[in-house]
Parts: sequence; structure tokens; C-alpha cells
Amino acid sequence: MEKKWWHNKVAYQIYPKSFYDTNGDGIGDINGVIEKLDYLRNLGIDIIWLSPIYCSPLADQGYDISNYYDIDPRFGTIDDLDRLIAEGKKRGIGIVMDLVVNHCSDEHEWFKKACEDPDGEYGKFFYIEDYKDGDPLPCNWRSYFGGSVWEKLPGHDDKIYLHVFHKKQPDLNWENPKLRKEVYKMINWWLDKGIAGFRIDAIINIKKKLPFSDYSVDGDDGLSSIDNMLKDATGVGEFLNELADETFRKHDAFTVGEVFNEKDEELPLFIGSHGYFSTMFDFSAESIKEDISPENYKNAIFKAHERVDGIGFLSNIIENHDEPRGVSRFIPKEDLDDTSKKMLAGIYFLLPGLPFIYQGQEIGMENLDKVNDINDLDDCANANIYETALHEGKTHAEALAHLINVTRDNARTPFQWDDSENAGFTDGRSWLMVNPKYKNINLAAQINDSDSVFIFYKELISLRKNPEYESTFVYGKFAPYKPAQKNLLAYSRVGEKSVMVIANYQKDAQTLSLPSKIKKVLLSNTSKTLDNSSFNSTEIVLSPYELLVVEMV
Ligand code: GLC
Ligand code: CA
Repeated sequence: MEKKWWHNKVAYQIYPKSFYDTNGDGIGDINGVIEKLDYLRNLGIDIIWLSPIYCSPLADQGYDISNYYDIDPRFGTIDDLDRLIAEGKKRGIGIVMDLVVNHCSDEHEWFKKACEDPDGEYGKFFYIEDYKDGDPLPCNWRSYFGGSVWEKLPGHDDKIYLHVFHKKQPDLNWENPKLRKEVYKMINWWLDKGIAGFRIDAIINIKKKLPFSDYSVDGDDGLSSIDNMLKDATGVGEFLNELADETFRKHDAFTVGEVFNEKDEELPLFIGSHGYFSTMFDFSAESIKEDISPENYKNAIFKAHERVDGIGFLSNIIENHDEPRGVSRFIPKEDLDDTSKKMLAGIYFLLPGLPFIYQGQEIGMENLDKVNDINDLDDCANANIYETALHEGKTHAEALAHLINVTRDNARTPFQWDDSENAGFTDGRSWLMVNPKYKNINLAAQINDSDSVFIFYKELISLRKNPEYESTFVYGKFAPYKPAQKNLLAYSRVGEKSVMVIANYQKDAQTLSLPSKIKKVLLSNTSKTLDNSSFNSTEIVLSPYELLVVEMV
């Protein structure tokens, strides 16, 4: 595999609105990120991905951009951002911006001009169709946040526009070369500023199956999931290749795609040495539909990595701003403690690919346990989840309980810095509730505690970067070990060294026979150090949720 500058990096996702507030308005800001750069450097972070901070009405928390060339005043100014880039560089940290170009905001000037003159130049930046009340819609696709993808064009009773996400997120028409050129210009403007690259939002959606047509109805609403259309839409690669050629490739930028539904044969095109993107997220575990078990978690991530073996790098996560907290999702509630949290961390962190940490994950932040009312939350996706649950026959209390398990707000509650009011996130009134668990789960309590989840993450990062082992963790061959042994999750990484990652993914002890003897324990989540006799045996007994990272003879 051709070596790239970003291969050995560790990345960290910041959701700026909830990270750290420096001016008391209850909203995290760029200055807050600058203040915490030393914290991130100390943790061992090389790349920061910032969720969107561009001008935005925040209908979808900044994923609805009204000006791509400026920062929303709530987050700061372009000067603040320039300072962040410069301060990051001093510390060897690259800044990755979020690239949201499937859609913009309905408050972007392109859309305003399109509303003024739908048949003019900017009308063609969007998907606008003629429509009279009573007509059938051009297609029956369901938007990701619920309801039809079609909405009346403001100021025009006889026109509608397409939005696959929120109605305040009109889709940009990538079939139009003029639009594409505008997008590339904007991307190059940012890359010229010295950012390290982009995380690329919802990018698969830029190719629509045209002309618009209906797909099979898959809900009581008479609509059809966008996925049905996407499976049928071919040709996204042409757009992506042009995009990469016009922008990223010229700058040797780091790019990570939010890609779903790609076909096996497309993998080299997406993330091969000369792919459209540097890497893409592995969402295989996030996509598990049934209840999570150690077995389906293991099968998902092992399959994902075997699938890209020899082709390219995946980016590994246990959570992000769109998912509940990973520890709450992947560990049974009754078993959730520091030991099981560390086990999960060790499993995903040492897989081939690039580890991403989502803010707060490094201190073991968990989901909310309850809210009294849906209005305690904020996400625009909540209403549809809640109403669908009611529609399916759940009571209000049950619908709320369901929402709490799945809402994206679980990841968006403020970072828990300490046990003071508002978890030290703001001196003002936080824009979103603080998770009451901050009294016990916060950075201040962990930063000097050698047994903490935080210190464990630090150790994981320094192990990955340890010059003796780095090439093995970055380029070593991945092979599952005893995948059929129940509730065991073990794999080897073999390069210059031979390393095994072994996890006992259950609350009972478990015996494992190893392929050879252990030479050295590199990391463990228990206080138990293997005594000399266990080094002499290939049979080991793992305690509940034990994780071992060992070098093999
Ligand atoms: C991506 C983002 C998500 C957003 C959506 C629309 O999935 O991660 O937060 O709602 O795209 O931009
Ligand atoms: Ca602020």
C-alpha cells in the first residue's frame, strides 16, 4: 500500500456547539477549541474534525449552511478560525472542516435567488419542479427526517423543490456544471487557507436517480426510503472523481467520506491509493439493526475490515454526533463500567485504519437516562422519531423512552469538563441540557487518575504511536482470531511485530488458548498483570470484560 502522511494519525471529532464556551452565551465556540488545544495535544491527537461552524440558521445544527465562506458569529469569526489553524499547526494538529455540499440552507443566497427567479441561473442550482395542488408529486421519496422530500418553493404556488434532509436544506443540483464549479472554488479557498482537509457529509446523496420516479412504498406514510432510490442511482463516481481532481488531489488533502451503500467493486475507487477520498468511516456496527450482541458487533467490524483488506483504510469510530454514545450502545447497561468502556476502546482503536475519538468518548461519556419532555431536547430529527413511535402504538412514556435511546442529542450534550455547574462547559445557560451524570463522569476527576478511562485512551494512543509498534498497528496484517468462540473478540496485527488484541466481551470469565506464547503485555484494562507462569502457557483465563494487548512470541 502506498504510504500517506495521514496513515499513522489519530483523529478527534469536535462538535463545536457543545465543546467549550468562552463568552458565556451557552454555545461552544472556536476560542473554546483554541483553549483546549493543549488538552488535545496532551491526549495525543493529530487531526481535529470540526462539525460545521459556517454561517447557518442551525436548523440542523450547522449542516444547513447559508454562507460557505464565513463563520457563524455564534462560533466566532474567520480570524478566530485562522488562529485555530495556526495554533493547531504549532502543535502538529491539522484542522479538518466539514464539507456539506449535498445541500445548503434555504437562507443561502443561491436559494434566495432561486426563489426570486426559479427559471434563472440559480434556479438551476436546485431541483425545482412545476406543481399544482392535486397533482401527484414527482416522486414518493421520504426525507431522512420524515415526510416527503418535496416542499412548496417560497413565493411560488406552482413550484416545489427537493430536500432529502430537512426542508431548510434544499438539495444542490450536482448535474449542473456551474454549481459544481462553485463548490470546487469554495473547497480550494478553504484548502488554500491551510486546513488539512475535509470530512465529507452525506456525499452519496449528490447523485439522484433521474428522471424522478416512485419506489416501493415502505411505510404507512405511503413513501419510500431514500435508500431505495440510492441503490438505483449510478454514476456518483464521475462526480466524485471530478471533485477530487479539481480540489483534494491538488492539495494532498486528507478526506474522510460519510459513505453508505457502496458496492464491493467500488471500494478501490472510493478509498484505494488514488481513490476519491483518503478514507471513509466504517459504519458497519452503527448500522446493526437488531439488538447489539458481542457476536453481531464482532461480525460487523471484522467483515468490514476484511472487505477493505489490501484496498484502503477505514476510519474507525464507536460514536459520532449522529449516534448515541458508543459505550451505551455496545455494552449492556448492567455491565457498563470503566472496565467495559476500556475494553470497547481497545477493540476498535487497534483495528487497521484510522481511529477517530468523538468528544467526550475519552472520558466515557454515556447516554442520557431520561428527559421529562421532548422539549428538553433539540434535534430536528426527534419529532419524527417520537411521532413514529406513537403511531406504532407506543404510549407517550414509551415513545419518550425509545427516543432517549436513539436520539442524536445523546452525543450533543455538552462536554463534561468538571463537576461544577454546567459541567464547566459554560458560565451561562447551556443551549442543550447537560447530562446529569457529569457529577461522576468528568475530565477533572480523571485527568490524574491512572485508572481512569481518560488515561486509558492516552495509553492507547501512545501505544499506537510507540516507534517500536507503530508500523505494526498502522500497516500490520489484520486477522480475526477464533471468531467462532462466543463473546470473545480477538484479532492479530502482524507486521514487524506480532501483536494480539484480545477481549472477553461478557460478564463471565472465559478461557482462551493462544496460537503461541505471550512475550509481553503491552496494555490491559485490569490491574491483573500476567505473572511469569502465564507467559509459559498458551492457555489464559480472561476476567469479565478483560482486554489484553499482547506481543506474541
Ligand atoms: C450527515 C450529518 C448529519 C446531518 C446530515 C445532513 O449525516 O452527519 O448530522 O444531519 O448529514 O447534513
Ligand atoms: Ca460562546
